[in-house]
Amino acid sequence: MSLWKKHEVFEKNSFVLLVGILVVVAIGGLVEIAPLFYLKSTIEKTEGMRPYTPLELTGRDIYVREGCYLCHSQMIRPMRDELARYGNYSLAAESMYDHPFQWGSKRTGPDLARVGGKYSDAWHVEHLVDPRSLVPASIMPGYPFLAENRLNTRDIQSALTVNTIVGVPYTDEQVENARTDLLGQAMPDSDAAYAFEERWPSATVRDFDGNPKEVTEMDALVAYLQVLGTMVDFSIYDDKANSR
Ligand code: HEC
Repeated sequence: MSLWKKHEVFEKNSFVLLVGILVVVAIGGLVEIAPLFYLKSTIEKTEGMRPYTPLELTGRDIYVREGCYLCHSQMIRPMRDELARYGNYSLAAESMYDHPFQWGSKRTGPDLARVGGKYSDAWHVEHLVDPRSLVPASIMPGYPFLAENRLNTRDIQSALTVNTIVGVPYTDEQVENARTDLLGQAMPDSDAAYAFEERWPSATVRDFDGNPKEVTEMDALVAYLQVLGTMVDFSIYDDKANSR
């Protein structure tokens, strides 16, 4: 009997076929799942990752509210064309403080995982107000109202508290001062800004939307976009050290 004939056993008997399927799926499952029990952590060790500041976290919530993830992914895959276009592939560590993560599954626009620092704040503001003024063929909708909406400061303390519950290491001091820090990061030279810098030494204080009169949703969204992909210092990140 040739090898191909033996296959008839499976094809003519649905119960044998079912058992065969179960065996094959079980092997696949074991190979994928068993190693996870022997790893201390599936998140790489990196330098520089910190939780989002209150302003960045609010920007992230606006990103989710406006559905930016429906057109933009935040997940650079380890493939040559993506590395050439976007930079280092995304690490698990880079989304460990994201609840929920914003990897996305659809790229109508470009991936945004490393968009931080690629453009100026002013570019982002103009692009969000009217994308076609900068990219004539763009099909991205404009969000001009973000520049007019004053930032809601009511919920930020609860937002930090909830993140703490799911494991984001905010300090008690950061949670307590969330409201002043939220505004302080977007008001350079104010007392709130100095206090913010004490609590968040590695974050930047800037008037992100270019409007010094008030802190708007635009401030928050631009602060968020500008920090994306910039926290891990890849000049000292050692890929090999993590696989040992
Ligand atoms: C209907 C799909 C769509 C939605 C929704 C959308 N975008 Fe876009 N976005 C695009 C497309 C297409 C481009 C590329 C053309 C351009 O630059 O405008 C783009 C470009 C961008 C860029 C420039 C990226 C780069 O590397 O050049 C940023 C930043 C951006 N979008 C942010 C956002 C944010 C923030 C939101 C939510 C407030 C959003 N987008 C919502 C489609 C979308």
